[in-house]
Amino acid sequence: MAGLPGLLDYRQSMAHDALAGKAKPSTREDIVVLEQVRKAFGGVEVLRGIDLVCKHGQTTCIVGGSGAGKTTLLRLVVALEKPTSGRILVDGEDTVPMGERELNRVRQKFGMVYQYAALLDSINVLENVSFPLVEHTKLSRAEIRQRIVEKLQILELDETVLMKFPAELSGGMRKRVGLARALMLEPQILVYDEPTSGLDPLTSRAVDDLIDDTRKRFGVTSLVITHDIASCFKLADQALLLTKGQIAARGTPDELAHGDNADAREFIRQSGVNVDAILASRTAR
Ligand SMILES: Nc1ncnc2c1ncn2[C@@H]1O[C@H](COP(=O)(O)OP(=O)(O)OP(=O)(O)O)[C@@H](O)[C@H]1O
Ligand SMILES: [Mg+2]
Repeated sequence: MAGLPGLLDYRQSMAHDALAGKAKPSTREDIVVLEQVRKAFGGVEVLRGIDLVCKHGQTTCIVGGSGAGKTTLLRLVVALEKPTSGRILVDGEDTVPMGERELNRVRQKFGMVYQYAALLDSINVLENVSFPLVEHTKLSRAEIRQRIVEKLQILELDETVLMKFPAELSGGMRKRVGLARALMLEPQILVYDEPTSGLDPLTSRAVDDLIDDTRKRFGVTSLVITHDIASCFKLADQALLLTKGQIAARGTPDELAHGDNADAREFIRQSGVNVDAILASRTAR
């Protein structure tokens, strides 16, 4: 997803009802459920009957080649777009029949981290990250700054970044700032679209650690869209392979690598990643 459309989506997703109360944290086990979800654009079916369950507090990774429908699936989950048919349950509520007002309430449960962080280049980091809090809370400037500094510290960025412009940051720092912004309203579910794309392998692995630390620290559910097999094998409790709009395989990373699904084994083989080494390096979750 390109930077600018990402930002527009972000603004749209943040167009919440200013009076809406903060959602209570859910204890529902199946926090996101898709049932036979289909999506067509101009008569061309891009998603063809997707069933998916994201478990509370776990990480679900969706992998697949370019054009498989990954970003489309993500946009349906976060209620930026409606499916052609099927049900999408977020914390037990079907979002498909909902009107805009209800959708805005549901969107507040999600934090989104876009491929290119979708930061506005013309304003500094403080202004970029303040955005959700200025729009959706009545906090003072000082309180907002304090909250941002806290989040940045957790993400290992110090206060000096606040006055910098996005162009002055490295790719990895931009990801952290994008993540800090996604976390500002303390969402229950974090969704990431290609969090490691455009980053070198070392920085990519640091972003993986950041995603996992964030899940543990904030108790969030993570949905990660990626074509980075290394990332998937590092992070996923559950992994799904999306091919031409259908789930071609699903299971734990180990099941995908060593199970009887030939599509999954071939996709993993073609990536050239030593997935067994990654699985062996995973710490207990
Ligand atoms: N708004 C839209 N209008 C028309 N077609 C669309 C729209 N959004 C997506 N598509 C089409 O749906 C298909 C899947 O696109 P999508 O962006 O979901 O793929 P992807 O798996 O995220 O790919 P990538 O890895 O390249 O990001 C593509 O053929 C794309 O052209
Ligand atoms: Mg995409």
